[in-house]
Amino acid sequence: MKTIKPSERIVYQIYPKSFNDSNNDGIGDLRGITQKLDYLKALGINTLWLNPIYVSPQVDNGYDVADYYQIDQKLGTLADFDELVKQAHDRGLDVILDFVMNHTSEKHPWFQAALQDKESEYRNFYLWHQGKNGGPPNNWASFFGGSVWQKDPLADNNYYFHLFAKEMPDLNWQEPRVQTEMVKIAKFWLDHGVDGFRLDAFIHIVKADFEQDMLASDDKPQLAEMFYANLPQVVPHLQAFIAQLHEIKPDIFILGEAASADIDLAVTYTTPPKKSCDTVVTFRYFAEDETGLDPDLLRIGQPLPLDLTGFKANMLEWQKRLEGVSFPTLYWSNHDMPRILTRFDPKMQKDACAKMLATLMYLQRGIPCIYYGEELGMESALLTKLSDFEDQQINEFAKQAQAKGWSKEQILASASKAHKMAVRLPLPFDKSKYQGFSSVQPWKWATSPKTRSVCDQEIDPGSVLAYYRRILQLKQQEIFIHGRFILENTSAELYVYRRILDQKEVWVICNLGEIPQEFKCGPVKKVLLGQNARVKAGTAQLKAYGSLVLER
Ligand code: GLC
Ligand code: CA
Repeated sequence: MKTIKPSERIVYQIYPKSFNDSNNDGIGDLRGITQKLDYLKALGINTLWLNPIYVSPQVDNGYDVADYYQIDQKLGTLADFDELVKQAHDRGLDVILDFVMNHTSEKHPWFQAALQDKESEYRNFYLWHQGKNGGPPNNWASFFGGSVWQKDPLADNNYYFHLFAKEMPDLNWQEPRVQTEMVKIAKFWLDHGVDGFRLDAFIHIVKADFEQDMLASDDKPQLAEMFYANLPQVVPHLQAFIAQLHEIKPDIFILGEAASADIDLAVTYTTPPKKSCDTVVTFRYFAEDETGLDPDLLRIGQPLPLDLTGFKANMLEWQKRLEGVSFPTLYWSNHDMPRILTRFDPKMQKDACAKMLATLMYLQRGIPCIYYGEELGMESALLTKLSDFEDQQINEFAKQAQAKGWSKEQILASASKAHKMAVRLPLPFDKSKYQGFSSVQPWKWATSPKTRSVCDQEIDPGSVLAYYRRILQLKQQEIFIHGRFILENTSAELYVYRRILDQKEVWVICNLGEIPQEFKCGPVKKVLLGQNARVKAGTAQLKAYGSLVLER
């Protein structure tokens, strides 16, 4: 099989539980994915990234792994997985898996052994520390709320460390046997044919000295990224790990999740020859406009609009600084953030907005990563019960909002627009009751907002889906892979850039708002793609959310 270079990758992210349910138990599964490979091939992607599929108590939807060598039985079997990989490869599609390296589930046998016996050989696989002044060792906060420390039931005044849920104890990467085990796991999946990994939360595998508190004016746990994110020692650990994987399979693709990484760190993580990742996903692209933020309410339940000026500046920085270094990821959404159409919240012309956003993002220099459903213009769902969020912090938010007089509907609407759980719902394939995802009620379900299904969009040449197919076809042209990127200095409402390769020059012109815009682009050879827009006498005329791709 031909190897796909990082520069040529077009990634499609699948949340397996919500993609397609083949046996009608309400949960998406591996066979369900295999059934839809032709759909994915026709879309124009070449790499599938699956969120975790391993055995897991599902405290964090699979990111709490209890057995790295087995498929969660609700998703299928190892044989189903092998078949999926084979069928994908037959179609020229690569498969990469989520690799959860920072923590395990508390139910993992290593942690169970460590928890039950202080002398266990697995004790040092995890991070333990003595408490301080009758409390935990320090005041660092977990990303999922509360302290990073949880009491060790075996010893008084002793704690284990968890950066995420308390059911997800962090691994101790200073322990060489942890490193060896992780390589073994990766090798197992490479032997099953996978073409690379998405490294989950790798920036957190090294922690600072536990003696140090965050400076704070209250006694609540405090986010402490400087003590547990992007520490310099992450790099040698990662390089050693990746080097061993490259010995097993030289051409693997490594997509690192580096949520809080800035551009300097991205350069560090991706600079050859000692790179640890081919590319990283940062959450920093999406500058948010915080003017409407209510300080009395937890941020997790409050949707914030994008700060378009900040976003543009961030994109420019990542585009330019990675030139000659690596290819940045180009993405709008993933399973941890609101769907882009919800974040953007157009009041009209939603389809045009979805098309414009795809044009803007994916024709830049880099690797498109499309979150399933985005190709249909899918929005975050409106969840109808607080328990649907499965998040203590949302209950907290609801209490705060209630105290301010918010209605239940207002609380659910706000939280749904902001929260990650609302982006993890089934993909609509047709008009049937459960939209062709399953014949029974899916594991997570809401009836609004309605996205037009795959079936509807496939027969409509004006659909978002049809447009995505065209954009991804264009993306495969050399100029959109290797062309230089130049962002024009325009008003905040416009996003305009050029790609230049040899004698060829292409303009991408996007209107980010409802108000019509014009842009002087000069004479044009050919309109490669356009919607809600036209060129007249050297001027691009864009209606609400219009976009144009022009050859000059
Ligand atoms: C990553 C995942 C997120 C998960 C966390 C813990 O950030 O994207 O969904 O909760 O790691 O594994
Ligand atoms: Ca199923």
